[in-house]
Amino acid sequence: MSHTSNPVFARIAGTGSYLPQQVLSNDDLVKRGVETSDEWITSRTGIRQRHIAAEGELTSDLALQASLRALEAAGVAAEDIDLIVVGTTTPDLIFPSTATILQHKLGVAGCMAFDVNAACSGFIYALTVADKFIRSGAAGTVLVVGAETLTRMLDWNDRNTCVLFGDGAGAVVLKADHETGILSTHMHADGGKKDLLWNPVGVSAGFKVDEHNAGVRVQMAGNDVFKYAVKALDSVVDEALVANGLDKSALDWLVPHQANLRIIEATARRLDMPMERVIVTVDRHGNTSSGSVPLALDEAVRSGKVQHGQLLLLEAFGGGFAWGSVLLRY
Ligand code: UT7
Repeated sequence: MSHTSNPVFARIAGTGSYLPQQVLSNDDLVKRGVETSDEWITSRTGIRQRHIAAEGELTSDLALQASLRALEAAGVAAEDIDLIVVGTTTPDLIFPSTATILQHKLGVAGCMAFDVNAACSGFIYALTVADKFIRSGAAGTVLVVGAETLTRMLDWNDRNTCVLFGDGAGAVVLKADHETGILSTHMHADGGKKDLLWNPVGVSAGFKVDEHNAGVRVQMAGNDVFKYAVKALDSVVDEALVANGLDKSALDWLVPHQANLRIIEATARRLDMPMERVIVTVDRHGNTSSGSVPLALDEAVRSGKVQHGQLLLLEAFGGGFAWGSVLLRY
């Protein structure tokens, strides 16, 4: 790519998403023997159902379907991609990266490809990295994906976590553009909160499971995470507005991470945004971690809600803790 004196933005040229076929309702969870109820899950989280990847259906398979749709919407051929970044905390394998597996499934080779693990903020982090590559001139066309099979690491006997998550993927194609696109990105992390939301096994820490860790599973102190998430998201949306010298009334859409409807509503209140201007998918998707923001974005684009030229604020919060925002003109 040649450098010019005009500022280069990373513009979203196309979006895509994919949800596995199998749907698990709240009542299905009760039927499976989880000590919960549709009333509890709906009133505390807003979740009514979630999608579950089929046996043998991997994170890269979900990513592939979402990517093909995003490439088609952008009118971009896989051969033209300079960089693939996949936000995921449930990679197909320890290595190689899911991005390289996705690259191969797309039938191409040679371009840069790597994963970003920022738990539920994986897509926001991946989008931020992609934005930097485009702004620096190091890439002109980037495929950014958020894809997860989080249900693979749930303990179905732990009602504190198993009712919350689902599987899915979303993708965007970013292209260098002189007119408009991503206006700002802000990322944060606080590693001191690791134990509040984590999966405590791994390569270096060891896969050995003791009496407290019954398996390779997500563990969460939900209420603590909830409080921290609301505060961090309040602060990150303020930060994005201040950095751009914008009043909250300038925003057309909030595209939030879909963990809990009550968290989403709290952020909307902070921004004085009516829920009609907030994209909500948590009721049908549950929390798909890195998949949630691009899934919501794709749904908003394809339903015709989000229009060219509108101002969108994307945000996410999750394990690490890691959180962040992306402000963009669509
Ligand atoms: O995406 C990454 C970021 N993750 C999040 O943002 C998640 C943040 N946390 C949350 O969304 C909420 O904290 C939860 C939905 C996880 C929990 O809601 P809560 O209102 O914070 O409930 P709680 O954890 O304070 O639990 C209230 C009660 C407890 O019973 P007692 O101790 O009051 O008798 C729980 O044992 O609800 C009980 N409970 C359940 N009951 C029925 C917890 N899970 C369930 C369940 N069904 N699935």
